[in-house]
Amino acid sequence: MTYDTILTDIRGSGDIKTGVITLHRPKAMNALNDQLMDELGCALMGFDRDDSIGCIIVTGSEKAFAAGADIAAMKDYDFQKVYGSNYISRNWETIRTVRKPVIAVVQGVALGGGCELAMMCDMIFAADNAKFGQPEITIGVIAGAGGTQRLPRTVGKAKAMDMLLTNRWMDAAEAERCGLVSRVLPADKVMEEALAAAEKICSFGRLAVMATKEAVNATFESSLSEGLHVERRLFHSMFGTADQREGMDAFVNKRKPMFNK
Ligand code: HXC
Repeated sequence: MTYDTILTDIRGSGDIKTGVITLHRPKAMNALNDQLMDELGCALMGFDRDDSIGCIIVTGSEKAFAAGADIAAMKDYDFQKVYGSNYISRNWETIRTVRKPVIAVVQGVALGGGCELAMMCDMIFAADNAKFGQPEITIGVIAGAGGTQRLPRTVGKAKAMDMLLTNRWMDAAEAERCGLVSRVLPADKVMEEALAAAEKICSFGRLAVMATKEAVNATFESSLSEGLHVERRLFHSMFGTADQREGMDAFVNKRKPMFNK
């Protein structure tokens, strides 16, 4: 498959590898247009289907993860177009159906839809030059790809309101303090660290990895009691897998586990 607006690569030294997707519209700071989101969805689904891939990284350039949805395209859209074509829901949400972990590696700006795309991933690793913001209000709209929902759930109402209503940006250090990003690294180390984390994930049992992601995501999709119920049932189901027997036996017998990949 060849793409115009993204680059794909496969990295890692083990049997199970990491699929890397790089957003690539350098002249427009990776502004997210329909073509890019279609291609991203296609690449994500391809890696999700591929049994030799255990984890996916989505990244951008040194200057921009993504500077938002493509304003030059959106400026001509009207209600008929966006509602009629189910804009955003139509292709941006493909990432929510990916069952393998997706790590966003953010360098430079992650603004508007770029910040929202990063938040749709399972973890964000940020370079120390990363900046997060939701400037939609400055162009007369609101965050429309989950920003009004995921940001308050992640950083709390106070910080989210501040960012969404005043266009205040967060730097990487603040983003880490409020739980938006998992790790902050120097720009020249962040991809290396993300690849190492991905390789670690690839070394674990596929089913336990997918079930962990599903259970954590249930927190955001449901009430605490519903989320705990989903978690408990998924936890119980792990006891029907060979990896549970292998992992626990290996621990008790002080040996390295051999998981199903
Ligand atoms: C289209 C964009 C763009 C965007 C940058 N560019 N952001 N094109 N959509 N979101 C283009 C510029 O027009 C310019 O093209 C080139 O990228 C370089 O940008 P500059 O502005 O010249 O660079 P710089 O001065 O370094 O400023 C960088 C910036 C600024 C701070 C990121 O570009 C900016 O504020 N961009 C818009 C950020 C934004 O408002 N994002 C939210 C979008 S709304 P030319 O051809 O002139 O060189 C959104 C909706 C979400 O995301 C809801 C649904 C998803």
